[in-house]
Amino acid sequence: MAHLTKLTDTYTLSNGVEIPIVGFGTWQTPSGEVAKQSVEDAIAAGYRHIDTAAIYGNEESVGAGIKASGINRHDLFLTTKLWNDSHEYKKAMAAIDTSLQKLGTDYVDLYLIHWGNPIKYRDHWEEANADTWRAMEDILKSGKARAIGISNFRQHHLEALFKTASVKPMVNQSFLNPSDMQKDLTEFCTKNGMLNEAYSPLGTGRIFEIDGLKKIAARYNKTVAQVVLRWSLQHDFLPLPKSVHKQRIIENAQLFDFELSHHDMELIDGFHGVAGLADNPDESKF
Ligand SMILES: NC(=O)c1ccc[n+]([C@@H]2O[C@H](COP(=O)([O-])OP(=O)(O)OC[C@H]3O[C@@H](n4cnc5c(N)ncnc54)[C@H](OP(=O)(O)O)[C@@H]3O)[C@@H](O)[C@H]2O)c1
Repeated sequence: MAHLTKLTDTYTLSNGVEIPIVGFGTWQTPSGEVAKQSVEDAIAAGYRHIDTAAIYGNEESVGAGIKASGINRHDLFLTTKLWNDSHEYKKAMAAIDTSLQKLGTDYVDLYLIHWGNPIKYRDHWEEANADTWRAMEDILKSGKARAIGISNFRQHHLEALFKTASVKPMVNQSFLNPSDMQKDLTEFCTKNGMLNEAYSPLGTGRIFEIDGLKKIAARYNKTVAQVVLRWSLQHDFLPLPKSVHKQRIIENAQLFDFELSHHDMELIDGFHGVAGLADNPDESKF
């Protein structure tokens, strides 16, 4: 298990870059005041890692929240993602510039390919991903991203990528919560030197439907959200909880004054499928 004492503890990526062990999610956070304020609230609560994406439509507001927080850019870890319409070398090279401009920064800490098999490139996804990864490697070399990775890839997409990649992805971001641990995928990623980031660590709200979690949380005098995020950390995942409510943003960061027993970790592992499963990237409609 990683060193888990505070929000600013880090995992070390395969290229030596340090990444804070909890990130703040922003999917479905409306651009404008809500995104700006929630990012400011997260930074005030101690988060030093923010996760956004071009497709979320809120990069400008996330950037505004970072500026308004007064934090030094170098003390913050910022991720954004390449959307599915740009799985071509030139388009990817242009997309990072657009994201940087919107975010109001000259580099991101992590740049991810958002999906492994977009519908637009489905008849030649392997070649499209190879071309896109070449761009990701050049973006890394240029310093516009300090680390690069993928999201919503399965093992066969990664094996295909490895055939032409000069650098393996440093991060895999995938749907990971007690309802779907994607055990084979995360083990494959770990074996290949990739850190597993847990998106939808609260199942986009659905883990609150799991009654068994309430009982476990009550025993620790913690909330269900805190127990599930702690479970994620004790699996060496990097959870990315999202909220637009200040009190929840603070609650989701209070994960370091308790430890789940081995028995309870196993109990929580046992909720597989109870609150949804990861989408299959080969069947996405976008
Ligand atoms: N790479 C990808 O394809 C991908 C896909 C999905 C997500 N992600 C990333 O992962 C992040 C998190 O995933 P997610 O947005 O699906 O959701 P999530 O973090 O699993 O859950 C967020 C939901 O739970 C609610 N919530 C948060 N904290 C709570 C608490 N303490 N008590 C009760 N309810 C709480 C939020 O409501 P309020 O906001 O109203 O508080 C929201 O409805 C995203 O924001 C994004 O950055 C990436």
